Parts: sequence; C-alpha cells; structure tokens
Amino acid sequence: MAIFSLLLGLAGKALIVLVFLLVIAFLGYCLYIRHVHMKYDHIPGPPRDSFFLGHTPTILKIMKSEVLFHDKLLEWAETYGSVFKINFLHSVFVCTTSPEATKEILMSPKYPKDKFVYKRLFSLFGRRFLGNGLVTARDHEQWYKQRRIMDPAFSSLYLRGLMGTFNERAEKLMLKLTEFADSKTEANMLHLVNCVTLDVIAKVAFGVDLDLLTNKSPFPMAIETCLKGMMYYLRDTLFELNPKNRPFINEVREACQLLRATGARWIQERKAAMQKGEDVPKDILTQIIKTAGKEESMTAEDEEFMLDNFVTFFIAGQETTANQLAFCIMELGRHPDILKKVRKEVDDVIGMKQDISYDDLGKLVYLSQVLKETLRLYPTAPGTSRDVLEDMVIDGIHIPAGFTTVFSSYTTGRMDKFFKDPLTFDPDRFHPDAPKPYYCYYPFALGPRSCLGQNFAQMEAKVVMAKLIQRFHCVLVSGQTFDILDTGTLRPKSGVRCHIKHRQHNE
Ligand code: HEM
Repeated sequence: MAIFSLLLGLAGKALIVLVFLLVIAFLGYCLYIRHVHMKYDHIPGPPRDSFFLGHTPTILKIMKSEVLFHDKLLEWAETYGSVFKINFLHSVFVCTTSPEATKEILMSPKYPKDKFVYKRLFSLFGRRFLGNGLVTARDHEQWYKQRRIMDPAFSSLYLRGLMGTFNERAEKLMLKLTEFADSKTEANMLHLVNCVTLDVIAKVAFGVDLDLLTNKSPFPMAIETCLKGMMYYLRDTLFELNPKNRPFINEVREACQLLRATGARWIQERKAAMQKGEDVPKDILTQIIKTAGKEESMTAEDEEFMLDNFVTFFIAGQETTANQLAFCIMELGRHPDILKKVRKEVDDVIGMKQDISYDDLGKLVYLSQVLKETLRLYPTAPGTSRDVLEDMVIDGIHIPAGFTTVFSSYTTGRMDKFFKDPLTFDPDRFHPDAPKPYYCYYPFALGPRSCLGQNFAQMEAKVVMAKLIQRFHCVLVSGQTFDILDTGTLRPKSGVRCHIKHRQHNE
C-alpha cells in the first residue's frame, strides 16, 4: 500500500513536471514566433490576423475556400508591391514578383526547394508518395545525379523518335471525337485529353499500352485521388485528425499503393528483360532503373527510390499537359478570330495529311504562340518556392536569412506592369519579334530545377492541337463557367464541355 501511494506520488510529481515543461516549451515557442515576426516586420504585407498566429488563419481559410490562392497573391502583389511577406506560425514566406530576384534565386542551384511543400510530399497520409524523386529531391547532389541520368530520355534526338507515338495516340482521340461528332453528344474535353496524355506517358515512358479511350483502367482515378489527397495533405494540417475524413484518406493511401505496386511490377518486368539481354528501349523506365545503381548492390531504399521517380513521371508527365490542352481548347472556343488564324496556319502547314512530322512542328509558329499564351493566363503548375538561408536584398528591402521565397507565374502573368491588358488572351505577345518577357513568365519554372519535360509536353500538345484544329470545330456548351479549379495544379473547373462538329473544308 505504501509503495502504491509512493508510486502515485511520484507519478503526480512527474505529471506536474511534464505540464510545467510543456508550458515552458509553449511559451518558448510563442516567444520564438514573436521574434521571427519582429525580424521580418519591416517587410510590407497584409495585416496579420493575430499577434502569434500571423496570417495562419487567413491562409487556412483561403486554402479551404473556393478562392484561388494565386489570385490572393496577385491581389497582395498589387497592393503591397514586388516583395511582401506572409507569416505562417514560425515560418516566413516572402512572395516576390521582382524579375531580378526571380532570376537570382531560380537560376542558382544554391537555394534548395522549400521543405514546407517538398519535404511534405515525400509521403501522403503516411504512405510514401513522391519520396526523393526528381521533383521533390531537395539535396542538390541527390537531385543532380538523377537529372544527369534522366536527361538522355529528353534529348531532342530522343524526342524526335517519339513523334510516332504522339501521332498515334492523338489519332485515337480523333477517332473518339468522330464518335462524339456523329452522335451529337457533349464531350468533356478535359477528360478526353487526360486519357491521351496518360496514354502517351504510359507508352513512351514505360512502354505500356493503356489505350484509355477504349479500355477501362484504374490509373486515371488513382492519379486524381492522389492529387486531391495531396491538396488536402498540404493545405489542411488538421485534415487527418477528423474521423469523417478516414474513408477518403484510406482511398488516397490505396491509390498511392496502386501506383507504387504497378511501378514495382513494371520495373521488375523491365529488369528481367534487361537481364535476359533483350533489346529494351532507352525510355524513362530504363533511365529510372539506372538512377538506382547496380543490381547486385541494390538496397530496399534504392528500390523505393525507383518507385519515387516512377510516380513522379506518371503524375508530372501527364496532368499539367492535359490541363494546358483543355484551357487552350477553352480559349480558342472563346476567340473565333484567333481560332481562324491558327486554323489557317494548320491548314497551310499540314493540310489534309495525317502524320505530323517533327519539322512540321517548327512551322506551327502561331500555334506555339497560342500554347504559350495559354500558359501565361493558366500556368497549370502555377508556382514554385525556395528556402533562402542567407540575407538578401530584394528591390531595396533587406530580408534576413531563414525565409522561404514564393514565386507565382500565375501572378506575374496577370500583372499589367509585365503584360499590357493582362486579362486579354492575345497570342501576339509571343510573336517571334516581340520582346521576350524578362523573368516574369515561367510556366515551366526556370534554372536548374526547371521542367525536364518542357519540350516533350509542348511537342505532344502541338500534335494534339494541330490534329484537333485540322479536323474538328469544338463549340463550347453555353452557360458553363470559365473559372479555374486549384487542385495544386490548375485546371478548368467546367471540364470544358463542347459540342464537336466535323470541319467543313470548304468553309
Ligand atoms: C504543360 C505541361 C507541363 C508544365 C506546365 C510543367 C511545369 C513544371 C514546373 C513548373 C516544374 C517545376 C516544379 C517545381 O518547382 O516544383 C516542373 C518540373 C518537372 N517536370 Fe514538368 N511540366 C509539364 C509537363 C511535364 C512532362 C510532360 C514531364 C515528363 C514527361 C514533366 C516532368 C517534370 C520533371 C521530371 C520535373 C522536375 C525537374 C527537376 O527538378 O529536375 N513535366 N514542371
């Protein structure tokens, strides 16, 4: 009994000490937050919600609402100037639209991608997701090694060899659109172009035929679920704690698992073929296997690392291009004059021919302008961010080390100090003789961490658009919204619903 009351007494004391330590830690954290806020107090920015929370409640509210986060950045950039700050608990985000700072930071390898977003994307709700793959790797050496190995799969020589697949997969879309035109049924263009870009990446990156316009597959849904999960995971820190969200979180985990298990199977099949000395393509899958090092010395972590890149390419290589195509169809539907001009170019360059060649792509100059202008108003991957661990001066404002800089191509693309009459869709801004935008247009990011698939994506987009323009007239279903949905990447909210009509070539 005496021992029992002694133990009880000790436990009581331990509890008191623990509570005391927690209170001290909490007060210490509050003081630290306050110290950080004071350090960056001279930088302009929207008013803080509270002494300790900074802008956290506002940010969480925006993230959960229908308001586009990048629209808020645009509003703040116009109100507070080229450098403004946001306090999120003890973190300081410095958003800048300054072309000089954009150049200095993004073009240099010395600023790592920020830990807030990229470290978090290592996993989704406890399941490994993008891991240390090419998009999320923060350590320069680890990233550089991967990028060097992947580069050959994106060389212009290799990309030329993909024209056959781009043509063939786009042709399947044309067949599908013929069905829509003949049956006079409404088409959801975002869904259809999503099938094409997923088909293309599966074929050219992994050598697998999905043929999604004909076959059913769990992959589009799995990718969609992962992206949705990614948004909640990044934007709502308390999401996981709400029991109501359990079923959805399980779906996200299963979707992650499906992608990684598929990757493991395809990688195994490719490795077996390589070991048998079979002739395998020098595609993205082969390069992914190379990034993991020698077979004999491969560890479980190396295997996981290959899957990180498998998932990275499956996701990065598809969604952004599909969204660009859908936005482009939407804008052409809204601008008959621009459609007329681009049609003339397509008719002049490819006429009635079915296969588009690499050389034809170079001649489709106005179509390139249309695609560039689409990404100015709708940069489907709208921003990027870097950690800055040294003091810096941006546009005359001294910023102490230890902040995260946020760059938004959406914001700069819509500012009238960079683009005259910015909300007007005008492909002539990108006329070959027009002055090049100076570090205020970067839909593929800039510098060493810029998009590896930029040329791949634009070749694919041009082939799809050229065939579409050559053969069909997409009439937008009236009454649909032209709003943007932010799911981490930007996509047209309506899905771009169209009536498809065969083109009359005597028109
Ligand atoms: C319109 C289409 C596309 C857009 C707008 C786009 C945009 C971007 C952006 C903005 C980044 C930087 C991301 C960041 O800083 O967090 C990026 C990185 C990347 N993208 Fe794309 N992308 C597109 C298509 C593609 C395609 C088709 C592929 C592959 C086939 C691809 C592969 C990658 C990879 C591997 C990276 C990471 C590069 C690195 O850090 O070394 N992207 N992309």
